[in-house]
Amino acid sequence: MNDQYRLKTDQQGARIQKMFDGLAANYDLMNRIMTMGQDQRWRRYVVDQADLKDNSTVLDLAAGTGDIAFEVRRRFDGATVVAGDFSLGMMAYGTQRKGGDRVHWVACDALALPFADNSFDAVVFGYLLRNVTNIQTALNEIRRVLKPGGKAVCLDTTPPPPGLLRPFIKTYLNVGLPLLGRALGTDPSAYAYLSNSTQHFETAQALAIHFEEARFEQVAFRHFLFKTIAVHWATKPS
Ligand SMILES: C[S@@+](CC[C@H](N)C(=O)[O-])C[C@H]1O[C@@H](n2cnc3c(N)ncnc32)[C@H](O)[C@@H]1O
Repeated sequence: MNDQYRLKTDQQGARIQKMFDGLAANYDLMNRIMTMGQDQRWRRYVVDQADLKDNSTVLDLAAGTGDIAFEVRRRFDGATVVAGDFSLGMMAYGTQRKGGDRVHWVACDALALPFADNSFDAVVFGYLLRNVTNIQTALNEIRRVLKPGGKAVCLDTTPPPPGLLRPFIKTYLNVGLPLLGRALGTDPSAYAYLSNSTQHFETAQALAIHFEEARFEQVAFRHFLFKTIAVHWATKPS
């Protein structure tokens, strides 16, 4: 994609945006293979935690090709579903999916959201926080656009936990993932980035503290897949 069509963001954001534009064609397939088909189960759990109703207004932030947005759409026919991302390449694939015309696609940077205060009943976000330059700014923006009492639900990877499985998980991240990426013809540096950003990301406990610092209440989380994935949920105070 020509740079002139990219949404303006900071320098690190621009690098990540470009990387996801390049990954878009293989993203869904790679996701299913990398997680051994588990990824959609975690997204369903995200939607379970969002306390949605049929007339809810929901933002899927960092929506990519829209997997979480489509899950909301499938379960809540009357909901208003907005999918926001700064990679137009990822969203372009999403718009072409079945039902893509029943999701509102918005180009946006999670660090400066183009939505009014108190707009959404829930903001759900898969694999956003690991990619942003400032977690606290992103969480403050998410709280700002949530209605009082609204839910934030976050899905992300966590660093390999201490214990017997750690060397195996590290080998998978450092060797297995880049090999898979190469087999699918994807830029190997993108999977090196995924591996590094996962290993240097916050633990689930530390991420929960970020939610509290952003003045969320009732912060909780659950681990999946040998503690390599976490779903956090939290409420904006009424
Ligand atoms: C790994 S993909 C996740 C896509 C989707 N949520 C899913 O569950 O598959 C991460 C997405 O976050 C987006 N992203 C990263 N930083 C962002 C930011 N600051 N603002 C908006 N989107 C961002 C990327 O463009 C990419 O589409």
